[in-house]
Amino acid sequence: MSLRIGDTAPDFSADTTTGPIRFHDWIGSEWAFFFSHPADFTPVCTTEMGRTAQLAEHFAARGVKPIGLSTDSVSEHVKWIEDVNDTQQTTLLFPIVADADLEIAKLYDMIHPSESATAAVRSVFIIDPDKKIRLTMTYPMSVGRNFDEILRVIDALQTSDTYKIATPADWVPGAQVIIPPSVTDAQATAAFPQGYTTLRPYLRTVTL
Ligand code: BEZ
Repeated sequence: MSLRIGDTAPDFSADTTTGPIRFHDWIGSEWAFFFSHPADFTPVCTTEMGRTAQLAEHFAARGVKPIGLSTDSVSEHVKWIEDVNDTQQTTLLFPIVADADLEIAKLYDMIHPSESATAAVRSVFIIDPDKKIRLTMTYPMSVGRNFDEILRVIDALQTSDTYKIATPADWVPGAQVIIPPSVTDAQATAAFPQGYTTLRPYLRTVTL
């Protein structure tokens, strides 16, 4: 069965390029960006791995630990990282899970047989410190992910947790947010002393 938002991310033990891990222990009290790849030594995956490495300080600033997976061995991953570093001008330090037997890819429903029976599609799981899945995205093998969007949704989730708000279409940090309909006007007045705008009773916006 596929994993859904709000489910506990399945725990697992695995070998990775930074040593063996138990997933929940490795996440600890931070967030995780867990993302899968079809295979090592492939072009789109190489750019995605490089981009994640380049954004290391942006993930760290948000308390998020990246961790990749592809259905290859640690020794292949380690050789591939040299290529990633070389071609993408970066230093990849986050772990990549070895999953040659597809056990974890199957646990996370990353194998979509119409795409490939042996390689993972491009899945994304954003997992919070309580180990709950907060966001999933699935891309086909031919389409590289947009890492600005990955950072944006992490910002949206963390802002929503802090202020109990929702974010509108195309929201970026600093833009107005939405006061959910479950919040009464009296509660909104107390929570947002800076004031808010009522466009409709169900559509209230506020600048944080
Ligand atoms: C790639 O990463 O370039 C790729 C991998 C598998 C299928 C298609 C593209």
